[in-house]
Amino acid sequence: EKEHENITKIKYIDKLQFGNYEIDTWYFSPFPGKYGKARVLYVCEYCLKYMLLEKSYRYHMSECKRRQPPGEEIYRKGTISIFEVNGKKEPLYCQLLCLMAKLFLDHKGLFFDMDPFFFYVLCEIDKEGSHIVGYFSKEKGSYNNVACILVLPPHQRKGYGKLLIAFSYVLSREEGIIGSPEIPLSDLGRLSYRSYWAYTLLELMKGRSSAEQTSIEELSKESGITRDDIIYTLQSMKMIKYWKGQNVICVTAKTIHEHLQLPQFKRPKLTIDLNLLNWKPHN
Ligand code: ACO
Ligand code: ZN
Repeated sequence: EKEHENITKIKYIDKLQFGNYEIDTWYFSPFPGKYGKARVLYVCEYCLKYMLLEKSYRYHMSECKRRQPPGEEIYRKGTISIFEVNGKKEPLYCQLLCLMAKLFLDHKGLFFDMDPFFFYVLCEIDKEGSHIVGYFSKEKGSYNNVACILVLPPHQRKGYGKLLIAFSYVLSREEGIIGSPEIPLSDLGRLSYRSYWAYTLLELMKGRSSAEQTSIEELSKESGITRDDIIYTLQSMKMIKYWKGQNVICVTAKTIHEHLQLPQFKRPKLTIDLNLLNWKPHN
């Protein structure tokens, strides 16, 4: 059934002209009518309006007044900025964001009701404006601290994904929630989360006087990462044993140190500075 669905949904759109980038698309996205059948789609990087013709695009870019996402800027560090966009207040912008994101997401359904979501849009700022790099969505009132996360291909592998992940945990922290991303994760999503979780947990355990005594509950409380995600991550590093019906952490200062030396656990390129967060949980 699923396979059939994927075969019938042919991907026509090959390229996205977006800001200074021509981006090869990955998957089908349900742009309506003739837009969905275009080979190249032109998208305004500020208001996300999509167009068929380069001519219309050029004209639009000279006319469009928007230079940043709608909503509140809730974080700014140097040239990096994060906006909170309420799906209820900005349904069109959020729909356009989801339609574009679907071109790079295979396994997520597309919802047309934006009311239940907030969108956290990460931008790089220069003198022209705030350029979208990526975003994550978050369902209001959910224990999932991320519904969907994307970094646009030209900006991938620079640390923005893990920065957004870190930010999602910061927001849950403020809400007093131990959160987890919505499943299923894509392959790239899983790699990024595993890398974030492993590094965060290794750093926490490293700081302990006797790492051997660390419990999963304590790690969860300190990191904001769920019990299941911790067990999964420690299993992947062979740092956990099942002993008398319980999961027991088996590490020494030496094994932690050895892991932190491995290339896949290097320090994140970008980190969130809590002092620069300008946000309070919604009630
Ligand atoms: N090959 C191998 N490892 C990778 C790759 C890759 N292509 N991409 C990421 N990783 C791993 C690495 O460990 C990397 O850390 P490193 O560069 O320090 O080694 C880590 O994941 C994350 O790297 P970042 O640069 O922080 O992440 P990036 O900015 O590339 O964004 C993301 C990651 C958001 C998953 C991006 O790949 C993306 O948007 N993919 C398409 C959409 C998608 O699959 N989203 C996740 C769906 S699941 C969900 O939404 C809950
Ligand atoms: Zn525009």
